[in-house]
Amino acid sequence: MPSTAFQARYLDVLASIYLYNEYRGYTALDRVIEAVRLRCPDDPQFTAEVIRHRADERKHYVMFKRWFELQGRMPLRLDTRFGHIDRFIQWVFGCSIDQLDTGNVVADPAEFERLCRVIMLGSGPINRATRLCAGPDPAAQPPRSCRPGADADLPDRSHG
Ligand SMILES: [Fe+2]
Repeated sequence: MPSTAFQARYLDVLASIYLYNEYRGYTALDRVIEAVRLRCPDDPQFTAEVIRHRADERKHYVMFKRWFELQGRMPLRLDTRFGHIDRFIQWVFGCSIDQLDTGNVVADPAEFERLCRVIMLGSGPINRATRLCAGPDPAAQPPRSCRPGADADLPDRSHG
């Protein structure tokens, strides 16, 4: 059984990594939405699904941010070395997220399918982290500090 200090540190590291990844996810999806709107104007349902996914990512980001804010602490400062989506994009497309030309990727059906697979891979592990944040009983409601969307308008202190 790990010590309380070890558990607290583990949760700090885990929550910081998720916070970073959710941030990278929803901001990258902003660019994907822009490209999808340009390239797929006749498919509003698909655009709406991407927008919903972006909203989920943002909700997860706010959830982890709030977890730190309610404790009056800052998350660990992380960079792309801790980003799942950063690594997946690098492996699949051979460039960073910032270098990825989302317009060209969306225009090419095969490339766009690869991007969708990367996005799906990057958003998978959230449920495990949410359960850890909620406590040992997986059937229990997350504590108030972990509820998504509890306060979406708090200032962003984590990615300066
Ligand atoms: Fe997420």
